[in-house]
Amino acid sequence: MTELAELETPCAIVDLDCVERNLRTYQEYCDEHGIALRPHIKTHKIPDFALQQIAIGAQGITCQKIGEAEVMADAGIGDILITYNIIGDRKLARLRTLANRVDLLRVVADNEFVVRGLSAAFADSPKALEVLVECDTGAGRCGVQSPQDAAKLAGLIHDLPGIKFMGLMTYPPNGGTARVEEFFRAAMAECEKLGLECPVRSSGGTPDMWQAHLAPVTTEYRIGTYIYNDKSVIARGGCQEEDCALHVLSQVVSLPAPGRAIIDAGSKVLTSDLFGLEHFGYVVGHPDVTIKALSEEHGILTFDPATQPFEIGQRIRIIPNHVCVVSNMFDYVQLCRGDIFENPAFVAARGKVL
Ligand SMILES: Cc1ncc(COP(=O)(O)O)c(C=O)c1O
Repeated sequence: MTELAELETPCAIVDLDCVERNLRTYQEYCDEHGIALRPHIKTHKIPDFALQQIAIGAQGITCQKIGEAEVMADAGIGDILITYNIIGDRKLARLRTLANRVDLLRVVADNEFVVRGLSAAFADSPKALEVLVECDTGAGRCGVQSPQDAAKLAGLIHDLPGIKFMGLMTYPPNGGTARVEEFFRAAMAECEKLGLECPVRSSGGTPDMWQAHLAPVTTEYRIGTYIYNDKSVIARGGCQEEDCALHVLSQVVSLPAPGRAIIDAGSKVLTSDLFGLEHFGYVVGHPDVTIKALSEEHGILTFDPATQPFEIGQRIRIIPNHVCVVSNMFDYVQLCRGDIFENPAFVAARGKVL
């Protein structure tokens, strides 16, 4: 058993009591509203957490990359949605292999090029690949731009061999719940004109997680950050500080001038992702301290020069702005319950960008 003081810094520590509370609370919300939960594993990237999410009621998982899905399939997870346009012979061959290893593999597409590639790769497959049409409901990322375009692509998927149209998917912007309802309803009506049903209507996102039931068209909700939470979720009103399960543990290595402290967590730990916020995270217990700047291995804290909240060697906890990118920076996270540390967990799907 390791004590907090024995951990080398910088590292990521994950409180399992908090993780379990976060998972349970949202699963209960989905159960109450009859929404299937399909957590996105890009936040934790740890197979045991994905298995835990399924054990308490999640229908399956969401991955962004085939490499992440392969890691999760290795751990025995049998129901996977990949929310990314998959392009290229090598990736399509891997997708086909993956489809043979799991009970259900589903992907998304938002254009004809992708759909034709999927169809060619699965044309002689004994099991059709299930495809959702990705819709842009205001996030300005991927997605067809109108309900009419959604139906047009759905029609193509329906007509081509090897693939099966299963419905609609979107990743809405914060505050986009009403638009999801409107877009999906209109797209379903357009699909119906072609004689096509949309049994799956998949939406997601942690910031609006408590509004999911206000778009009753949604059949499943994909959510990632909720397992750990972070400063961005606090800032957007989705959780409280005590709901943040992952902290970066860092150490003060220098006090070079009044009002300035240097810590051993820089951009290679906290990343440069401001995620729409100011500064690079929240120093737990020090609301007046700012993480002002980062270089790769140094974090620069600033505070009122008339005060001195730190000493050299002092350990501090940081709640990152965007926890998903931070968990991608570590091979292992240190698991704990309060001050009691268990064996670290291997972040098996980190860095799987292919
Ligand atoms: C396609 C898709 N679905 C779901 C999610 C989960 O979002 P969140 O981490 O806000 O829960 C993401 C996050 O990036 C995503 O890209």
